[in-house]
Amino acid sequence: MEQMKKTKFFLDTASLDEILYWKKFDLVDGVTTNPKLLSDQNCEPLKRVKEICKNVTGPVSAQITETDEKNMIEQGIMLSKISKNIVVKIPLIENGVSVAKTLAKKKIRLNITLGFDPSQVLFFRNIDISYFSFIVGRVEDFGVSNRENISKLKQIININKMKCELLCASIRNTEQLIVSIISGSEIITVPPKTWKSILNNKFSLDGQKDFLNSWIDLKKNKKGYTL
Ligand code: E4P
Repeated sequence: MEQMKKTKFFLDTASLDEILYWKKFDLVDGVTTNPKLLSDQNCEPLKRVKEICKNVTGPVSAQITETDEKNMIEQGIMLSKISKNIVVKIPLIENGVSVAKTLAKKKIRLNITLGFDPSQVLFFRNIDISYFSFIVGRVEDFGVSNRENISKLKQIININKMKCELLCASIRNTEQLIVSIISGSEIITVPPKTWKSILNNKFSLDGQKDFLNSWIDLKKNKKGYTL
C-alpha cells in the first residue's frame, strides 16, 4: 500500500478572528478564501487577503473573480504579487483552463476550485497546478454524494502522474471529513463551523456534565474527599 503522508488542514474562511482561534488547535496549515467568504466578512477584500497572509505561514488561496480571460490573467498576476504564500485560485470554467496554463508558465502557484467530477482534473493533466479542489459538501446539499469519487480522483491523479495535491473542500460534517482523509486527500479545507461542531460533540459534552455532577455529589456527601 502506498505510504500516506500526514493530512494537512487548511481553514476555509476569510475571518481573521477564526484564523487566530483555530491556530491554537494547530489546524491552520493554510487558508482558503473565496468570493463568498470575503463578501460575508463585509470587509475590503484585498486588504483582508493581505492581512490573512501576514497571519498565516502556509499557503493562502485568493480566488479570481474576473470572467474574461485577459482580465482573469491580469487579476491572477496581481493576486500572486500580494505575498509569497499566495496561491491563485481559479474556478473550473472553460476560461479557467487557458488561464491556468498561462499563469503556470509564469510559475504562479495555482489552486483549481469547483471540481465536482473526477474527470475534470484531466483538463489540467499537463499544467503545473499545485492543488485540485474537490467539492464534497456542496453536492450533498442537493442529495448527491461525491464521497466515493474522492479515491477515484486520487487514482486518476496518480495514474496520470500529476504533481498536484488533492484538496477536499466544502466539508460540512465529520463523515465528509473522515471519508476525505481515508480516501487519501493530502489536504482538507475545513470551515470553522465544522470544526466547532466536531469539537463540541454532544456526547462529549453530556458525558462531561454527567461526570462533574457525580463529582459534585461526592464532594457534598464525603466532605474532604478530593483527587
Ligand atoms: C473551496 O476552496 C471553497 O472555499 C469551499 O469549497 C467553499 O465551499 P462551500 O461554499 O460549499 O462551503
